[in-house]
Amino acid sequence: MGPTFDLPPGLWPVEMDRGQIGQVVQNLVLNAAQSMEHGGVVRISARNVSDPKLPGPLADQTCVRVTVADSGCGIPQADLERIFDPYFSTKRGGSGLGLAVAYSIVRKHGGASRWSRPWGRAPHFTCTCRLRVGAST
Ligand SMILES: Nc1ncnc2c1ncn2[C@@H]1O[C@H](COP(=O)(O)OP(=O)(O)OP(=O)(O)O)[C@@H](O)[C@H]1O
Ligand SMILES: [Mg+2]
Repeated sequence: MGPTFDLPPGLWPVEMDRGQIGQVVQNLVLNAAQSMEHGGVVRISARNVSDPKLPGPLADQTCVRVTVADSGCGIPQADLERIFDPYFSTKRGGSGLGLAVAYSIVRKHGGASRWSRPWGRAPHFTCTCRLRVGAST
C-alpha cells in the first residue's frame, strides 16, 4: 500500500535543495516500509510551525515541520541513541547510512533537526525536520 499524505494547503515556502530533501524523505519512507514486514501505514505530513522556543539557530524562526510516521515494528529503547550514528544498522545487509545522511542534510538546511521518539512502546516511528522558511528558489 502506498503512503498517505497529509499536506494542508497554505504551507509556507521553505529554502531548501529539492534533491537533498527528497533524499531525506526517501530514506525515511524506505525505513518505514522496511519496518512493516506484514504491511501497515506510512503517513507523510507537513505543518507550518511558529514557535519562539525552537532550539538554537531556529529560535524565533518560522518553520515547516515534515513528519514521516509508520505503524511498523518501532525501535527498542536501547537502540534509540544510536539510530543516527553512521553504520548503525539492525538490518541484514543494511549500511546504516540512511538516517546519518538524512540527519546531516537536515542540519545543513539550518540546523533544523529534531527527531521525535516513539511514544512509549507504541510501534510508531516519527521523524520531524524543521526547515527554516525563506525565499523559495
Ligand atoms: N521507521 C523505522 N522503524 C523501525 N526502526 C527503524 C526505522 N528507521 C530506522 N530504524 C532503525 O534505525 C537503524 C538505522 O537506520 P538507517 O536508515 O540509518 O540504516 P538502515 O536502514 O539499517 O540501512 P540503510 O538505510 O543504509 O540501507 C535501522 O537499522 C533500524 O534499526
Ligand atoms: Mg535506512
